[in-house]
Amino acid sequence: MIHNIIQSDTSSTLTSEEIHLINIELSHVPQKSGAAIDALKIVQDKRGWVSDECLIAIAKYLEMSSEELEGIATFYNLIFRRPVGEKVILFCDSVSCWLCGCEKQKHKISEILKIDYGETTKNKQFTFLPVPCLGACDKAPVMMVGDELFTNLDSSKIEQIFTDYEQEAG
Ligand code: FES
Repeated sequence: MIHNIIQSDTSSTLTSEEIHLINIELSHVPQKSGAAIDALKIVQDKRGWVSDECLIAIAKYLEMSSEELEGIATFYNLIFRRPVGEKVILFCDSVSCWLCGCEKQKHKISEILKIDYGETTKNKQFTFLPVPCLGACDKAPVMMVGDELFTNLDSSKIEQIFTDYEQEAG
């Protein structure tokens, strides 16, 4: 939901690098609004999430209404409209993964990280989100942690994954 924010100047909200990358996307589409998802992804990639202020700036740059862009951002569930942890766990809870027991693995993650869906760990390392099919149903259950895909999950594999991340974080 967009709160009452005074419309800021696009150029002072978005960085020149973000504008440059958005311009590249704009060169591939007939209408500015056609670059909406890519523009949201560009900003998210740089900042981790898309704040109201950034959403308004992007909408202005693409000559769309903020409400229209908010609708796209909300529909596309990989655009984060709230701050997230350093890595986002996208945990598939669709049918193939569900049939392969993803619910048990979901509880395992919650137990290890002490968070539920929609929450971020205290150290801001992980945010845990359910997602529809990740397109790897033949290797269910699956999840992504950041950019990495983990397949054929079971409890010991999950323990190992998060032990490795803990060691990596030092
Ligand atoms: S149902 Fe989980 S990857 Fe397709």
